[in-house]
Amino acid sequence: MAVLAGSKKIRTAVFISGSGSNLKNLIKFSKLKKSPISINLILSNNNKAKGLRFAKIFKIKKKLFSFKNNTLAEKKILVVLKKNKIEFICLAGFMRILSKNFIKNFRGKILNIHPSLLPQFKGLNTHERVLKSKKKYSGCTVHFVSSKLDSGKIIVQKKVKIKKNDTSKILAKRILNQEHKLYPKAIMKIF
Ligand code: GRF
Repeated sequence: MAVLAGSKKIRTAVFISGSGSNLKNLIKFSKLKKSPISINLILSNNNKAKGLRFAKIFKIKKKLFSFKNNTLAEKKILVVLKKNKIEFICLAGFMRILSKNFIKNFRGKILNIHPSLLPQFKGLNTHERVLKSKKKYSGCTVHFVSSKLDSGKIIVQKKVKIKKNDTSKILAKRILNQEHKLYPKAIMKIF
């Protein structure tokens, strides 16, 4: 989809559960002239998510939802997304799995970032498992979200070499730096 000069940016919501470094980076990217998206809403299932502070810093609307009841949470979220005219969703460290029904409402319009070279190492504790496997490379992936965990069509990937003395913390940090470059690249690629 080409972005026409002067045309409005695509209204985007970012879903987070944690520190929000990808969120911060996406906000910065969205402010560039070349960015096809604007970030209009930050959504979280976790009221302690550190990343929520970026809502105040960048003056972006934030919403919290309890996921004790998934179906109800998703129903409420869909209403809020509609109210805010959200057209596109970026999951960035969002620790809940969205249902088929939810995804159906945003077909091809939800992206996720995962800290491995998918389809390898889907799911949690990625870096620990990668290090145990003795692989030479790990990396990160931005993909479309489907109803199966970390399984939608891959948009872009970046390889990161594993070093001899890597701990999961050190590797996570090195990969996170690459994630910050990869997410905007994926967005530029699809629009
Ligand atoms: C990232 O490594 C992301 O790939 C994974 O969770 C982490 C979130 O980090 N899904 P942050 O909250 O963006 O700092």
